[in-house]
Formats: sequence, structure tokens, C-alpha cells
Amino acid sequence: MLSGKKIVIGVTGSIAAYKSATLIRLLVKSGADVKVIMTDAAKDFIPALTLATLSKNEVLHALTDNNQWNNHVELGRWADLMLIAPLSCNTLAKMAEGRCDNLLMAVYLSATCQVAIAPAMDEDMWHHQSTKNNLDKVLSYGNLLIPVNHGELASGLIGEGRMAEPEEILAWLQAYFKVAQSMQGKKVLITAGPTYEAIDPVRFIGNHSTGKMGIALADACRMRGAEVQLIYGPGNQPLPKGIKVKRVVSAADMYEACLSVFPETDIAIMCAAVADYTIANASAIKIKKTEDEMRLELIKTKDILKTLGGLKKAGQLLVGFALETNDEEANAFKKLESKNADYIVLNSLRDTASGFGHDSNKITIFDRAGNKYHFDLKSKKEAAADIINILLNYSHA
Ligand code: CTP
Repeated sequence: MLSGKKIVIGVTGSIAAYKSATLIRLLVKSGADVKVIMTDAAKDFIPALTLATLSKNEVLHALTDNNQWNNHVELGRWADLMLIAPLSCNTLAKMAEGRCDNLLMAVYLSATCQVAIAPAMDEDMWHHQSTKNNLDKVLSYGNLLIPVNHGELASGLIGEGRMAEPEEILAWLQAYFKVAQSMQGKKVLITAGPTYEAIDPVRFIGNHSTGKMGIALADACRMRGAEVQLIYGPGNQPLPKGIKVKRVVSAADMYEACLSVFPETDIAIMCAAVADYTIANASAIKIKKTEDEMRLELIKTKDILKTLGGLKKAGQLLVGFALETNDEEANAFKKLESKNADYIVLNSLRDTASGFGHDSNKITIFDRAGNKYHFDLKSKKEAAADIINILLNYSHA
């Protein structure tokens, strides 16, 4: 699984740096191509010569060496994965802030590949509120965590904060690359967020969708190696790196954007809360409040999912979402048929923590064969993984 994989390992100042030697040896033995960057502090814990010998590559540590500039952009583009192990409390804080005061940080900040971190610190540091805040921030940027262990720490105390063992990190990387390849070569189109239908230049009809579920799906597909095109309505959610994003405003914009990419798409997931109706005659100028009553004339928007269902060719997979308040199951199956979708993901409104704006969702997935897959209330990230797993089983069937 690791054969030919290009891995940049960042080693920071922690007693756990001694484990880097074993980790690098295991990676090289598994066929990975490993390049090592050390911080100055890391060199106090393990000699660069050891890591250079084991990695079979020169160890880099400075932005410039012997009047030569180390091209940090090139390194972050070369790698399939950047792993910072051990990650010290100090480097974690720099990652949270985006500080660029050494080669490791320059590579991290310019890396286009996935970054994983294996922290190592004393328990009290690990549990400090600022460490927790920094970790949350760093993970919110899309970096992945290799969990710390409970065990003997450098201080002699027993507790949480011990870096994962090299064998555990190797197993984590093997599992990561297995998942990372599961959608390689697939082109995925995802819609997310609300649409705004203009009444006049300053007013619109919209809805409460934020786009969190669609963005979680886009990120899940990206992490599995897919080429993702996200079409995102008006929303202000942070967007993951490594996906193509087209911003749209109205249902008509979203329709056009989807139609232009659908022919090249393997999997289309229509997660957006598209307006079903738009204003018949939007005013080009701001409407003044002259009358006591005002009526808006609404006309149906084009149904994107249904249109794509009509255009769908063999081998293309089409997924719709549904939000129902009653007869959920019957309506979901009806939608599958009427829109010629392969799957409908039903969002439950029965849970207060599910749906618009929340970070969690409770979903049931329906397919054309009449199967139903119920899932518990989960984070949108986990719900996205559940959806993708169902789709991938279909693709492989
Ligand atoms: N959808 C779409 N284009 C529209 C309206 C909806 O592509 N103009 C998609 C949504 O992205 C979602 C699915 O259709 O995947 C279900 O949307 P929903 O509004 O619940 O279904 P409707 O078919 O509009 O039916 P109803 O509102 O009557 O339930």
C-alpha cells in the first residue's frame, strides 16, 4: 500500500523524535520514498545523520543551505502526504497561527497534499486549553490526527500525550492510503448551500441551508482521491483545499453550472437546498414601499436533479437529498423514481441536532432496489463517510 508513496516527515523537538528513526525505517522498508525535515529543536533529540541514513535522503532543516534555497513549495507538491511526527506543542501552536519561521512551517503552509500530525507532549500540556484550541483549529483546516497514546511520558508521569508507536503510525498510513485511493479517477459533482432568488437588487428569497453537509461530502470525496467540483450557493462555510469550487447565487445559476459539468461526471450528489420557486419579474431597481400590500409572483425553478436524471448515462451515479416532514419513506421512494436518481438521502427533521446549520445529521439512504440504510445521529463528516461508503459499494457491484 505504501510502495512508491512520497512522504515528507517533519520531525520537531520532542523526546519522541527517537521514534522517528524506527518510523522512517518502517516506511522505507514498505517501499515509501521518504524525505525528512527537522526543526532546530529536533536536532537536540536525534542526529540528522541517523535520519538521513535511514531515509536515504538528505535531511533538510533550513530555508537556505550553503547559499542554496530549499524550495519548500516543491517539497509540499512532491509529497503524497506530509506527516509531522512527533508534533511538539510549539509547532502545533505555530500551525494554528500560520507562522512561518522555519523550513518545516514553510513546507506545511505551502503543502498541497494531505497533512497528518502525530502529537507528542506531556499530559498537562496535552490537556491545556490552549493546546485543545490549537488542535481544534489545526484539524478544522483539514489536517488529520494520529491519536496520542496513554502511557509513560518523558516527565516520568503516566498519562495521555505519548506519541503513537511507529508500528501504529505505519498501520494508520496504510489505512489512510487505502481510503485515499478508493475514489481515484472519479469525477464528482456536488451542490451545496441555499440559493437566493432576487426580488430586487437588495432583497431575496432564500433558506437556512449553510452547505455544511455538501462541503463535508466534497471533503470526503477529495480525501478518497476523487476530483471534486463543488457548486456552492451563498454561504460562508470554510472550504477544504484541493477541490474546485464554483460559487453561484440563484437556482438558475446552479442549474447552468451543473449542466456544464455533468457530462464529465461519474458521481453527482445534489445536496443543495435549491429554491423550488423564483420571482417571476425581479425588479432591476429597489422596490419602494408605496403600497399597503405587495404580492410577489413566483414561478417554478428548473429541477436540477430531475434534469440530470433525464440526462444520466450508464455508469453515472446520481444522488439526491430530501427533507420531508411526513410520509418520509414513501416520499423518498417517490423522489427516487420521479427524478431517476440512484439514491435519495433523507434528512431527518425529527432530531433537534439534525439538519440546517447543525454539525450533525441523521440520515436514511434509499436505493432503487428498495433498500433502506438507517444511520444514527452523527457528525456531518461521519454522515458523509457513510454516504460515500454506500455509493462505493454500488460502484463496485
Ligand atoms: N433539487 C434540484 N433542483 C431544484 C429543487 C430541488 O436539484 N430546483 C434537488 C435538491 O438538491 C435535492 C432534491 O432535489 O437533492 C430534493 O429536493 P426537494 O426540494 O426536497 O424536492 P422537490 O422535488 O422540490 O419536492 P418537494 O419540495 O415537493 O418535496
